Amino acid sequence: MTKRDLVSILDIREDFDEVISLALRLKRSRYQTEPSVQGRAMGMIFEKSSTRTRVSLETAMYQLGGNAIYLNPSDMQMGRGETVEDTSRVLSGMLDIITYRAYSHENVLKLARNSSVPVINALDDVEHPLQMIADFMTIAEKKNSFHGKKFAYVGDGNNMVNSLVLTCAMIGMDICIGTPKNHQPNTQFIENAKTIAKETGSHVTLTNNPEEAVDSADIIYTDVWVSMGEEKQREEKEKSLRPFQVNTELVSGAKKDYIFMHCLPAHRGLEVTDEVADSINSVIFQEAENRLHSAKAAIVYLLNH
Ligand code: CP
Ligand code: NVA
Repeated sequence: MTKRDLVSILDIREDFDEVISLALRLKRSRYQTEPSVQGRAMGMIFEKSSTRTRVSLETAMYQLGGNAIYLNPSDMQMGRGETVEDTSRVLSGMLDIITYRAYSHENVLKLARNSSVPVINALDDVEHPLQMIADFMTIAEKKNSFHGKKFAYVGDGNNMVNSLVLTCAMIGMDICIGTPKNHQPNTQFIENAKTIAKETGSHVTLTNNPEEAVDSADIIYTDVWVSMGEEKQREEKEKSLRPFQVNTELVSGAKKDYIFMHCLPAHRGLEVTDEVADSINSVIFQEAENRLHSAKAAIVYLLNH
């Protein structure tokens, strides 16, 4: 059996529904161990900060009957110049699965190419696939079906948008992305998503008008304006993105029963106001809890495929 990785959400395109169902099942049996994970070890290389991803992955392994080892690169020989390729060969000789939160997508690819065990991208500069499983599991719970829904993303054209646009395209959900002109999403991801959307009969639309993005939306999603590693751009981004704040006025254009989503952490008062984040329409904490169940689903899926 060849090993499978989860570097991009497209890596599980064919089995996305199965992974979501698995996450929902594992949520119902929260404290049950999984025979395929018992006695298995996961390494977690984290170059950047994390609350949700780290805690969900460590708790997932523990509850499934395995073990997780958190690896801070500055404590590893990687931090002193050992290559990603060599690190990967060494770690995959000992571990059963490796997760990697990295500054560079190239390094996640290098780790995956050189590993004999599954590698999960725990967020890099271009994608966040684990978040997608939690997000679309939450949409499944709140909206029952993906069919005929409009997904609106408002904010920075960043790594989260890349994964969201691919996921919407692959499940056949219309997505409208509202960003300022100088922070549009990555063209390659948009083109790729448009090709996939053609096959699934959905639409990918870009706009520089936030009202147009959220018009009649079922789901409104935003993310931080300044991603990890972009701290030098803070002043400029906070200025450009100000009109894209998700606030009570903006969401008034959405459907009455729209849901508000955010991968978190939120910078309240910037990309979203307290009124929206704490409103009855907000599902951000359910979405955050689902990181645990979806992390389990990713681990169980990859160890069994
Ligand atoms: N959403 C998310 O990945 O959160 P953390 O950065 O806390 O892991
Ligand atoms: N776009 C954000 C997501 C954090 C979960 C970042 O990369 O920092």
